[in-house]
Amino acid sequence: MNKIIYLGKKSDLSDNLIQGETIDLGGSLLFPGVVDPHVHFRDPGLTQKENFFTGSRAAVAGGITTVCDMPNTEPPTDSLDNFNEKKKIGEAKSLVDFGLHAMLIESLEERKKLGSAGVTSFKLYPEISDDSNVLTFRDEKEIVSIHPEDPRVLGEHVDTGGDFETFLQSRPKQAEISEINKILGSAAGSHLHFCHLTARESLDLIGKENKKITCEVTPHHLLLDRSHLQEFGPIAKTYPPLRTRKDRKALLEGLEDGMIDIVATDHAPHTSEEKEKGLMEAPPGIAGIETSLPLIYTLVEKGKLSLYRLVEAMCLSPAKIFGLVNDEGIPKGALLPGADADLVALDHEQKWEIKGRDLHGKTKFTPFEGQEVSGRPFLTLVRGEIVFRDGYVTGEEGHGKFLPKKE
Ligand code: NCD
Ligand code: ZN
Repeated sequence: MNKIIYLGKKSDLSDNLIQGETIDLGGSLLFPGVVDPHVHFRDPGLTQKENFFTGSRAAVAGGITTVCDMPNTEPPTDSLDNFNEKKKIGEAKSLVDFGLHAMLIESLEERKKLGSAGVTSFKLYPEISDDSNVLTFRDEKEIVSIHPEDPRVLGEHVDTGGDFETFLQSRPKQAEISEINKILGSAAGSHLHFCHLTARESLDLIGKENKKITCEVTPHHLLLDRSHLQEFGPIAKTYPPLRTRKDRKALLEGLEDGMIDIVATDHAPHTSEEKEKGLMEAPPGIAGIETSLPLIYTLVEKGKLSLYRLVEAMCLSPAKIFGLVNDEGIPKGALLPGADADLVALDHEQKWEIKGRDLHGKTKFTPFEGQEVSGRPFLTLVRGEIVFRDGYVTGEEGHGKFLPKKE
């Protein structure tokens, strides 16, 4: 059985509907599988950092059952051919169901083809491609995901010595504000999705609009700030950078009140050799797919976020925004009869310490090292298959299915 057929008391269910294994969760919490629409599994071409199997292994260990992979692989996902190639890789290696983002390319013809093939969204990296694409294109069926850092502002204000200050000044929050302003000022008719917001001012800007706009926050921008960058160095280097405690507070408020739609990890693994290069040279990115649910659940445990918002922002909303549904059109991330049996059980009473060496992806380091969290995922199901149980990944490579975006 790969779908949820009934929710309710066992005593109300006729015996012939109970088949196979019965699992007593002993009073722990059962969530819909977490949907993470922003991951970099690095496959193909950058598999020294991660691949679809190792990335999805980390996902299921963290209670994540659906992901959407970003297009900055080698080759990049910038054509139907490359898209199909990546889809094959995912189908062969993934433990979790997956969607695929593509680069925001100029060819409208290729974009149409990618749209028909079920692409999740088109990603705009303003540092790589010309954002006038967004300013001109109007297709209500397309989602354009934006990395909001305006290259014209990056590197503008650097005036002090020392790597730490230089790095932060080289990527100021003004770059985010400027890019968001620029995009909002355009007449694009497509659904705009702003990735990994970091600043209170961004929320104010987006809040004023009544266009179809959604946005996300990462666990690291919610829970870490520049003090952690100082402590952890390159391991905590990411684009956009970690900001201040004040920004964190505003992001948390935005997440609770729904101004920020979803949590997405921006799982961006790099090798330890690359991260040893020093703050300015090391590549940006934090591997966070496995720690996301426990970190956000800990906010619930501390009374800083409602359980309702956790489930909405991590499960159902990302599925609805990106059109991730099962074969009957029922969204992922939902605990409903007819939904795929994507489930995660969390031992909410367990307090434990995050340790990089225990992670299931290729990256064995984290800027959350040593943080005590509440709630440990101990059972993960993808379409009824147990893919993670009691600390062990039990799923089979290739269990994951491609999910074409539903319009
Ligand atoms: C991303 C990566 O490593 O792929 N890194 C990051 O810091 N978020 C790329 C990027 O978004 O710049
Ligand atoms: Zn990213």
